[in-house]
Amino acid sequence: TGIVVLVSGSGTNLQALIDAAADPAYGVRILAVGADRAGITGLHRAAAAGIPTFVCRVADFVTRAEWDAGLASRIDDHAPAFVVSAGFMKLLGPEVLGRWTVINTHPALLPSFPGAHAVRDALAAGATETGCTVHVVDSGVDTGPVIAQARVAVEQDDTEDSLHDRIKALEHPLLVQVVGEVARGERSLPTVDGTGPQGR
Ligand code: GRF
Repeated sequence: TGIVVLVSGSGTNLQALIDAAADPAYGVRILAVGADRAGITGLHRAAAAGIPTFVCRVADFVTRAEWDAGLASRIDDHAPAFVVSAGFMKLLGPEVLGRWTVINTHPALLPSFPGAHAVRDALAAGATETGCTVHVVDSGVDTGPVIAQARVAVEQDDTEDSLHDRIKALEHPLLVQVVGEVARGERSLPTVDGTGPQGR
């Protein structure tokens, strides 16, 4: 099953998928990796693994809607069955969400702490427990149906970095597991408003 992975940063979740996909039994082929910015480690990881990459920057389009259509067209070039958002820091629009099921990973126990600063927000709120959530993307900010979660205890001396590192240690295998199950047809995902059926 072919997928496209979208990244904006260090790409450690992408790396976990690349490593898993090295085993044919995993059943996933990463057809391409897309980013909303150039020069990030996530793109270097893809290139090092011989995976095609593309960059689709909001600033290169007049409107956000045109960016959304441009991104959909770049994804469509690779004809994936579904899309994985692995630390992609832009909200996806209807052209992408209407065409593919998108699986996202988020570093908190949704619905707690949605948004771009989930780890910092959990610490600031004094949460004693947080974690990660793999979910289906809908048109909201981290509001789509939850597929799987893993829990992490917050330690007294945690910093944003130390806590995020422990979250990522659980996030990587959780994302790998869910993506593999969906790819192998072992798990069906809920469809969400405004999105087409899985694999369009
Ligand atoms: C992950 O924790 C993801 O949940 C969040 O940003 C982080 C991305 O990390 N949205 P990486 O780029 O996969 O290393």
